[in-house]
Amino acid sequence: MKGEEDILVLNDLRLVYFATSNKHKFDEAKDILEDYGIDLKMVKEKTKEIQDDDLRKIAVHALLKALEKDERPTIIEDAGLFVKTLNGFPGPYSSYVYRVLGVDGIMRLMNNEEERDAEFRCVLAFGDSPSIIKTFQGVVKGTISLQPKGRSGFGFDPIFIPKDSKKTFAEMSLQEKNRFSHRADALRKFSKWYIHL
Ligand code: IMP
Repeated sequence: MKGEEDILVLNDLRLVYFATSNKHKFDEAKDILEDYGIDLKMVKEKTKEIQDDDLRKIAVHALLKALEKDERPTIIEDAGLFVKTLNGFPGPYSSYVYRVLGVDGIMRLMNNEEERDAEFRCVLAFGDSPSIIKTFQGVVKGTISLQPKGRSGFGFDPIFIPKDSKKTFAEMSLQEKNRFSHRADALRKFSKWYIHL
């Protein structure tokens, strides 16, 4: 009897929901969480993202909205591209800037710019009820490429070259991107914590 109870607990822990409408993010996360024996299920997120200059506030707000609908183990994440010479722009406004200016807009802003350091940051929020929310941060440092390159991934992947690589994220397979990315960093921190709950 005691053994069965243990197995039940393990089963519950194995399933986590990812509230996102971005299939690329989901595939990246699934690949990482698999390594820790965690099953991931995508829940299409329809709530509008709040605008704030703090990624953590955006992620926590979105998670609370998702938990209002269903109290179950859920992760949500918010990410942004921070370009040093643009004083961190587009940062938390990356989603809006991507829609309005796109990759070409950032290329134009970086035209003739020699200082090309940038980083992607990600905040992942986890909770299974609104009472306790835990957040994890991920970062990857790199540079903005001179031209867009590659066709994989999404968003600003074609113009971001992580440190210790010569390829943009868009020239990498999902597994290669996961060796470097901000999202993978936050997901690994989350997974290590979660499997020891
Ligand atoms: P979101 O609000 O977390 O969906 O991310 C904001 C924007 O940042 C997205 O629309 C993408 O343009 C960009 N972004 C976030 N993460 C990545 C990534 O891993 N690769 C490329 N672009 C990203």
